[in-house]
This record gives sequence, structure tokens and C-alpha cells, in this order.
Amino acid sequence: MSGVFKAARVTDHVYWVGAIDWSIRDFHGYLTSRGSTYNAYLILADKITLVDTVKRPFREEMLSRIASVIDPGDITYIISNHSEMDHSGCLPEVIQAVKPEKVFASVMGANALAEHFHLDREIVAVKDGESISLGNMNLSFVETRMLHWPDSMFTYLAEDGVLFSQDAFSMHLASSERFDDEISDDLLNYEAARYFANILLPLSTPVSKLLEKVGGLDITMRIVATDHGPIWRKDVNRIVELYSRWAAQKPTKKAVVAYDTMWQSTAMMARAIGEGLKAGGADAKLMPLRACHRSDVATEILDAGALLVGSPTLNNNLFPTVADALTYLKGLKPRNLIGAAFGSYGWSGEAVGQVEDVLRGMKVDLIGESIKVKYVPDDEALAQCYSQGMLVAEKLRELCQ
Ligand code: FEO
Repeated sequence: MSGVFKAARVTDHVYWVGAIDWSIRDFHGYLTSRGSTYNAYLILADKITLVDTVKRPFREEMLSRIASVIDPGDITYIISNHSEMDHSGCLPEVIQAVKPEKVFASVMGANALAEHFHLDREIVAVKDGESISLGNMNLSFVETRMLHWPDSMFTYLAEDGVLFSQDAFSMHLASSERFDDEISDDLLNYEAARYFANILLPLSTPVSKLLEKVGGLDITMRIVATDHGPIWRKDVNRIVELYSRWAAQKPTKKAVVAYDTMWQSTAMMARAIGEGLKAGGADAKLMPLRACHRSDVATEILDAGALLVGSPTLNNNLFPTVADALTYLKGLKPRNLIGAAFGSYGWSGEAVGQVEDVLRGMKVDLIGESIKVKYVPDDEALAQCYSQGMLVAEKLRELCQ
């Protein structure tokens, strides 16, 4: 171990010993423009405990950071809050290296780790509400099933008021700074929202229930130690309140217009719709899909009230970028959206109907008639697009009153 990688002190007893991934740009389809971190934590209790590990290629970085504080062989317990590979990828090798007395996970987590790694040792399953003693300190566990995997759980260290929250309250943000108060509020808000939109949006109902459950627990959260991005210590209530707002998905006057185009006809329609939206009082956000990544669209939808989608017809089908974005958005299950479909075509023009079908499948409330234009929109067609924008804006005004 080089000695270059150091641990970061979180409290008198807790150290960050994770890894920084400056280069990752794709997280199962989510564009992580600013990289990420894989956070692991060391608790210096009588029984020294490691909470989570890191993605496999970063094992040496984590072990070096641990070695800057203690001999890794002194680790007695390992807690696996979440079995996804970015947090458990090097777990078998770490177990091999440090030979902990026990490894703990939730009931589902113990199964998931067995199914991932086919380990030849027991993972001790802990139940919701269960506690374990570290000698001079105690850890308790909160099951957070489906946030965002069936195995997910929180671990709470009462003595220091630290909630180890795995993916919850996280963000994909590589930085040399470890804490929220070292990073600008705008960047924190944006990346936390982007993470919620691209990972947690389909789980908004369980998020709301979890926030209620955690609010009802007799715990004091002074620090929220996430598995990605900065540790919240300045104002933990702030990220909790943001989650509460995002999970509610209350519509706003923002309308996202996502589209692609072959010969600029669908783009002209999108721009005319955007003008109508603006004239009607909505905040129009036009997103041409060869300039905007699917995860950018998901992020904008998080606080939008409308989604309008335009596609030309290519070989009797949706344009590929539109199909990509719609497939991704459908999986994220945004709620409380109104919307519309539009597009140009040359021969048969199936794409607009296909957009409608996907939007209906997403329970988007379609406003007005979908607009299909043959080849190139004339002034009348553009006026129709403008009116469609006005109509959606009017409906948004009603919904946001
Ligand atoms: Fe960061 Fe669900 O893993």
C-alpha cells in the first residue's frame, strides 16, 4: 500500500475510507457527468467495524485509506448495507484479506450476497430494528427494502448520531471535498436531484413511507453518511426535505418538450409548441434528444408538470433516440404529468401513435389531439402546434393553482 490514500475524519470514531471514481460516466444508463465516489466507513469502536466496501477496482484505494488509520486486519465486523456491486464488489476479497469475525447484512442482503458471490462463509442476517454491540458503542439497523434494492438497509450509530444511509441521499459527484458544507448549494441540489430522478423516482411511494418511518424513530441524525458523494453534516434536514418534495412529485408549470428530428420538421413543431407554452405562462424546456441525454430529460421531469414528446417516423417506427428516452422514462414511472405527442412523417406516420401509446402507458394525461404533419409543417400546422402549447400551459395553470 502506497500510503498516498488517507482516511477522512467524520467524527471522533468514524472515518471515511472510500474511493473516488473521477472517470465514470455511465451508471447503468445514467450519465454521471461528474464521476462518483464509493463511500465506505470505518467505525473505531472496541470491535472495529467497516460499513460497506467499494467497487472492485478500487479495493486497494479503500484498503490504503483504512491502513492510514488502523491495521486492516483489526477489523472485527463488516456491515453490508447494500449488495449492489459498487458497494460489495470487493467484499469477498476484503473478507479474505481481513478475516472479520462476522459480516452482517439484512435478511434479503444475506441472500443477495450469497447469490452474487457464492461465499463459503455465513453472512449474519439482521432484522429491522435489531441492534448489535460493538463493545463501547451500538449499531442498529433499519430495513429500507426497495430503496432501492430489496436488500437495502440503513445502519445507525447512536453514540455519534451517524446514519449510514447507503444509496439514499446520495449523488454521483467525484470531488476532493467530503462534506456538504465544502460544496456549493447549487451543485449539491442539482446532483442530488439528478440522482433522485434517475435512481429513486420509480420508488417515490416507498421513499415517502421511509421518510415517515425514519421521522418516527427515536434517533438523532447529526450526520448522514451516504454511499455516493458528500457526507451531509451541515443541515441534514435539508436533504430530507428535498426528498420529501421530490417524492411527492407535485406538478409545476414546467413543460419538458423532448424530441428528435430527421429534416427539421419535428424540430420546427417543437419550437412552435415551445412558443405556445411560453405565451401561455409555462416554463418551456426544449430538449432535442441528440443534444440532451436521457438522464438529463429524467432530471428535468423531476419537477415538471408536462411532458410533450415529438418523433418523426423512421421505417414505420419511433426515431431511435426517442425510443431510447421513452423506454428509460417509462421505467422511471414519473407521476402526475400531463402531455402530448407530435411529429412529422413522410409515408405512413406510425411514430406519433407509438409515442401516444407509451405516454398513456406511463399514465400521462394527454391534452388535446396529437399533431401529425406530413413532410414539412406549413403556417397552419405551426399555428396548431402553438395552440397545443397554449392548451397545455392553460391546463398546467389550472393544476398548479
Ligand atoms: Fe450505489 Fe444501488 O448502488
